[in-house]
Amino acid sequence: MHDVVEDVLTAGACTIMGTIPRASNDTRLVVVEHGDRTLRAVYKPTSGESPLRDFPPGSLAGREVGAYRLSRHLGLDVVPPTVVRSDLAAGPGSLQAYVEDAGDDASVALTGIEAIPPGHAPMFALRTPDDRDLVLSHETSEALRRIAFFDLLANNADRKAGHIIRGSVLPGLGRRGADPATYGIDNGLTFHAEEKLRTVLWGFSGSSFGEDEVDALDTVAGMPETLRTQLVECLSQAEVTCLTRRAARLAESGFWPEPSEDRMIIPWPPI
Ligand SMILES: Nc1ncnc2c1ncn2[C@@H]1O[C@H](COP(=O)(O)OP(=O)(O)OP(=O)(O)O)[C@@H](O)[C@H]1O
Ligand SMILES: [Mg+2]
Repeated sequence: MHDVVEDVLTAGACTIMGTIPRASNDTRLVVVEHGDRTLRAVYKPTSGESPLRDFPPGSLAGREVGAYRLSRHLGLDVVPPTVVRSDLAAGPGSLQAYVEDAGDDASVALTGIEAIPPGHAPMFALRTPDDRDLVLSHETSEALRRIAFFDLLANNADRKAGHIIRGSVLPGLGRRGADPATYGIDNGLTFHAEEKLRTVLWGFSGSSFGEDEVDALDTVAGMPETLRTQLVECLSQAEVTCLTRRAARLAESGFWPEPSEDRMIIPWPPI
């Protein structure tokens, strides 16, 4: 199903519908038509990236595509299909399938301490401007674990609660396509060579990696040529090397790491 969506994104005719408000980078909603398929997508032109202190300029679109390729190669399928398009109005950028929100996701919650949903792991507390104390918590489900595992590998510096969405990338395909699924969107701050994991999903820390996770870590540590070729189109050689080393380190430890105490480990804002 993701391959079908990738084809539509790569070859489809795009109509830019408008800008998505309040995003920190130029982010536009696009309708993509190809054959008898129509879907929505998010176009992030490199020309509209806001400069960041710790990531090289003009590199976010490549990171978005690299994130998809890594997730797809490992069969995690937590990143919506994402391609590079160079022929759209604002110049080269990433084009990612829009996750049509299923509207039934309660996997991450922000509640009073007395209302933390059963089965949720509490992450941190925060105080609202009107002095209410709230706790962010998340399910420790397989779906969230896959996203958190991807973030570990990709060294995601920005996994916010609001960027975890359960929904469909190809509405109409229904159950046949294993959709709806839980996706992580906004994967532009990934693959930095230095350790930068910032996430709201720390609830798996300390658990040992499962068999599938160990296989995935071994795959990335060994970096098959097909994956390397796909990743060096989007990331620097040094970043790809750091990815393989990170996977090898995680495989060797056997355990999900604990949050580091000497740096920021939660994205800001966290929601
Ligand atoms: N694939 C997607 N599916 C559904 N909605 C999306 C997708 N990508 C982006 N959006 C919507 O567009 C908004 C802005 O996109 P995104 O967060 O990727 O851009 P950004 O410039 O990094 O913004 P932010 O400042 O929120 O981090 C998201 O908060 C979300 O509402
Ligand atoms: Mg962002």
